[in-house]
Amino acid sequence: MNIAGINGTEKLRVTYQLKEVFLAAFREKADITEYYLPKDCPNFCNGCVNCMIKGESACKDAEYIGKIEKSLLKADLIVMTSPAYVFHATGGMKAFLDHFAWRWLPHRPAPEMFGKRAVIMTQCLGAGAKSAAKDIKHSLSWWGISKIGIFTGALTGDIVWERLSEKKRAELTRKVKRLSGKFAGMDYSKPAHTNLITKAKFFVCRLMQRKLHKNDPEYLDGKYWAEQGWLGKTRPWKLRL
Ligand SMILES: Cc1cc2nc3c(=O)[nH]c(=O)nc-3n(C[C@H](O)[C@H](O)[C@H](O)COP(=O)(O)O)c2cc1C
Repeated sequence: MNIAGINGTEKLRVTYQLKEVFLAAFREKADITEYYLPKDCPNFCNGCVNCMIKGESACKDAEYIGKIEKSLLKADLIVMTSPAYVFHATGGMKAFLDHFAWRWLPHRPAPEMFGKRAVIMTQCLGAGAKSAAKDIKHSLSWWGISKIGIFTGALTGDIVWERLSEKKRAELTRKVKRLSGKFAGMDYSKPAHTNLITKAKFFVCRLMQRKLHKNDPEYLDGKYWAEQGWLGKTRPWKLRL
């Protein structure tokens, strides 16, 4: 199996330690490709909307985005990590997610995403890990992913892993291992189930795209939906990719 990891920090500290605990359950059976932000996607989205209007290859950062997207599409499991910075995912993670706005359901979602599984891991000192995880979940679910596991942790002691009490380290490790055990036990030869919320979002977007495509057959998003067969009877969650 293939795993793509997107890490919202380059620091090899607590987020990294917990992510390593998670990945340990997969090391022997998975090809793991990881990216660290901001290094691997160093620029902000400047809102040029080229990705929406002209196509993703017209993005000034297409070189970075294209490479990471290839790994995401190939992955059976996507692992996203971030510490909480002011109650949210890191700026690097936000900049990364902005670059994938064109992959949201109202635009040109990748059919591969509908059968994928994903895990989000966030942690903080006191509070904010949950809202940081929500930042990431928002994008993943709008990319079309239904099966999303979430780990959130609060250190409530020190910010240095080695200086945390044994009890705290054991508690966090146990919680991560519970999640990794659950995901390691899944059958990756079968696509994940697409939930009703994702299907409902798809149908609302389909109505919109049908109208847009009718008004302007050259409009990129509408054309994409038509090419996928989604304006007809084809559904991305029924494809075996
Ligand atoms: C810019 C910044 C903002 C932070 N904001 C929060 C916060 O809102 N809530 C919180 O509990 N901890 C906050 N922290 C603490 C980090 O979440 C915490 O130290 C975390 O363990 C850092 O992850 P790392 O060890 O992987 O670098 C913040 C740290 C930084 C550098």
